[in-house]
Amino acid sequence: MITDFRRLLRADGGTQNREIYWNEDLYAQELEQVFARSWLFLTHESLIPNPGDFITTFMGEDRVIVSRGGDGVIRAFLNSCNHRGNIVCRADSGNVRSFTCNYHGWVYGLNGDLADVPLEKEIYTEPLDRKRLGLRQARVESYRGFVYGNFDPEAPSLLDYLGEMAWYFDSFMDVPGGAELLGPPIKVRFKANWKFFVENFIGDFYHAGWTHAAAIKVIGGALGMIQGNQAVAPGTQFATTFGHGFNASPGTDDLFPSIHQGRIATMFEDWMRSRLPVVRDKLGTERARLYNAIWDGGMFPNTSFLRGIDTWKVRQPRGPREVEVWTWTLVESEMPEELKRGIRHSNEKTFGAAGLLEGDDGENMEGNTHSSDGVITRQQPLNTEMGLGRETFRDEYPSMISEPADNEAAHRNFLRMWKTMMTAKDWDEIITRRRQDARR
Ligand code: FES
Ligand SMILES: [Fe+2]
Repeated sequence: MITDFRRLLRADGGTQNREIYWNEDLYAQELEQVFARSWLFLTHESLIPNPGDFITTFMGEDRVIVSRGGDGVIRAFLNSCNHRGNIVCRADSGNVRSFTCNYHGWVYGLNGDLADVPLEKEIYTEPLDRKRLGLRQARVESYRGFVYGNFDPEAPSLLDYLGEMAWYFDSFMDVPGGAELLGPPIKVRFKANWKFFVENFIGDFYHAGWTHAAAIKVIGGALGMIQGNQAVAPGTQFATTFGHGFNASPGTDDLFPSIHQGRIATMFEDWMRSRLPVVRDKLGTERARLYNAIWDGGMFPNTSFLRGIDTWKVRQPRGPREVEVWTWTLVESEMPEELKRGIRHSNEKTFGAAGLLEGDDGENMEGNTHSSDGVITRQQPLNTEMGLGRETFRDEYPSMISEPADNEAAHRNFLRMWKTMMTAKDWDEIITRRRQDARR
């Protein structure tokens, strides 16, 4: 295990050795130290509403099945047979009574226990130990319908892991009826390191006006003002104890113009106009402002999201130089169906497989990854010093903030959380070190 990170990440997070984006040993360490111990997004409760409903996904590179049992409880367990290792369930989603392995027909229940073994009596001398041979379970917890899994029994609860982020999430998840995701997710592969994608959403508002200049010209709307770097967008960047963060821009009391087009733009603005007073009453002025803002954000380690364009993404690592990006659409449950469909189309046009913005970002992320391993190039550190030393606290917010929204405070915070997890022996150490760091 690599323990000396002084060479890899400056203490304040302001520079990085490029190796952290391509080194195979560091990647293997990430899977063990970060992915096997963090809360990872699995699905939304509304996507598996009935007993027997399931989806298959990944936790790091471990395949998992997430299913709702006959008792209504959502569980997650490894999707690899305990006989000879075959994938137990190859479908992306569906409704079943049990999961049967393709190879020799072992059957697992909706709770992952081994339920049946073909010819068991005739072939095995003793009955098999069904518990021991069941599929290994992850811990599963939900926050406002968003379901996460964790393989580490020592990890804090999901709520503690979210920390200050729960307060911010509530500004769009604790609205009447709550928020939900429209699936199934769109899946696209890029030849890039997963961290570049997470950083790009967690706080990189800086790139939007330039990288997406052409796309914004077409899309217009709220982002028009930053097109081609004509102006710095007002707004604030937020960074939380366990590495989650986001930008919110502009967060004013006036209705923020939507990025949608035509009839959907009108419907969206009508919706926001009717909801804003309700959110203000329920959650107060600050969170009503956040509700009324465009966000780009991330939850450590590999979830990204936007408010306003309403995309929700997981960056599934596939080796240090490859990532599979899964994209759902984020909507409010009580929105009219036509508006939900319209938002989904907007999301597909911008962040779907052939989305205008997804393609722009992907090209950059692949460039970052593949230009960084030359023998001489790798000697040049990467830079995230924007806003360094200007991080601060303000009474109305529970976490560190930084202004303007064009900032790299959330990158630095994400990478310091990453370093802590990469080197800490257990969650006690992670919590102690992160609490010290959050006071910096
Ligand atoms: S590998 Fe699954 S039943 Fe044999
Ligand atoms: Fe982008």
